[in-house]
Amino acid sequence: MTDPIALLPLPQSVIWSESEQPWETTEPWEGLSVGLSEDLDRTEYALAISSEGASLTAGSEAALADGRNTFAQIVAGAGTSIPCVTIHDRPRYAWRGMHLDVARHFRSVEDVEAMIDAMALHRLNVLHLHLTDDQGWRVEIKGYPKLTEVGGWRKQTLIGHMSGNERGWEFDGTPHGGFYTQEELKGLVEYARQRGIMIVPEVDLPGHMQAAIAAYPQLGNFPDAPIEVRETWGISDHVLGVSDEVFDFLRDVLTQVSEIFPAPYVHIGGDECPQAEWKRSPQARTRMVEWGLTRVSEIQGKFTQFAFEVLTGHGKRVIGWDEVLESHLPDDMMVMNWRHGNGVKTATSRGFQTIIANNEHTYFDHYQGDPEHEQLAIGGLTTVKDVYTADFTPKQLEEDEQALVMGLQGQLWTEYMPTAAHVQYMAFPRMCALAERAWGSPEQSWEEFEERLRAHLPRLDAFGIRYRPLD
Ligand code: ACM
Repeated sequence: MTDPIALLPLPQSVIWSESEQPWETTEPWEGLSVGLSEDLDRTEYALAISSEGASLTAGSEAALADGRNTFAQIVAGAGTSIPCVTIHDRPRYAWRGMHLDVARHFRSVEDVEAMIDAMALHRLNVLHLHLTDDQGWRVEIKGYPKLTEVGGWRKQTLIGHMSGNERGWEFDGTPHGGFYTQEELKGLVEYARQRGIMIVPEVDLPGHMQAAIAAYPQLGNFPDAPIEVRETWGISDHVLGVSDEVFDFLRDVLTQVSEIFPAPYVHIGGDECPQAEWKRSPQARTRMVEWGLTRVSEIQGKFTQFAFEVLTGHGKRVIGWDEVLESHLPDDMMVMNWRHGNGVKTATSRGFQTIIANNEHTYFDHYQGDPEHEQLAIGGLTTVKDVYTADFTPKQLEEDEQALVMGLQGQLWTEYMPTAAHVQYMAFPRMCALAERAWGSPEQSWEEFEERLRAHLPRLDAFGIRYRPLD
């Protein structure tokens, strides 16, 4: 029997029983027996539903969460008459991620919880929270109150698209901001944990730091020329300076972030860091001599190395966007590849574990249909079919390089997503396709997937998740 209730992602092995009577129950969760089993691999779960009830066993708590999320889909799709099924399942990738930029537009704790619920429904297991950027600093750091008081707010926001009308930019005149207390973040971590999801924080450095520099000008290269939290998008020239005070600040921030988030990973950004200020800064030149550097571009490597040492001291593994590959990189770093497909080859051939987050197929800030009929987006075009049919792992990877690919992640950069509803509209249904690919479901045709996705959409409705309708 084909999947009668549109499981998505499709488990590795699903056998629906046509011969057995369905399990009649009004309280399915009451009848679910749950247990860990040493006979199963850590990532594996087995779910069996018979006319008598349901049982779930798994090799770890994480795999139990995956099994529960599959059970939740079955229950949601079946009402009180639950078809009998045997499922054996395990994910292809350990890292099945969604990134959410809460810096460009702040999202409430409830909005983030809704995203976590939606991720769990799709057996995604990593929420990468982009907490800091030029346009807003969103995490409370003790001892640095201005980070959130000043850096957490911009006076106004650009109206319309950043490009094409540089001379005629208009602003909305409305302050935008907000931040999470450490307690709120710990609450989110626990909320996510209960649903099988790990939150990985990102502190983007040494670029994308304009909000922090606006709060504490001494963190910049030119403290005598104060700046404000950025009101437009794009790449800011204002990057961290190189004084001891800056490195003390980074140690404090990374230490506190390590304590808030128990995940074994911290992301340190590293993308899009212009060198113009370092080239003009006498202090940067002095530092280069002290550090024995010959090229300004090597300064970023010093930041990476410093952050790496602080974080590994806290038992963390450190992730950077793929620009970090351009300077010397500690052996144990992990690389998140966003710019081009062969970056995965570059990173893995140098022995780095890598997460695929490429901007061809996983950037959900791109349009998902004809811009004429869509709300303003950053550009590009990535349809749900593009996500489902993408060739994510480059063919030229050797076997040992393949083994270094940890997983797949979708990105929600929110410059052009001012509301939670808009974020969901951009995320879905592309996130459904991403989840299926990250899970590594048995290969299906686009037509089969589209049919299953259509049947899945009412489930999104039931969860109150907004999505772009299928064409
Ligand atoms: C990025 O999109 N700047 C990682």
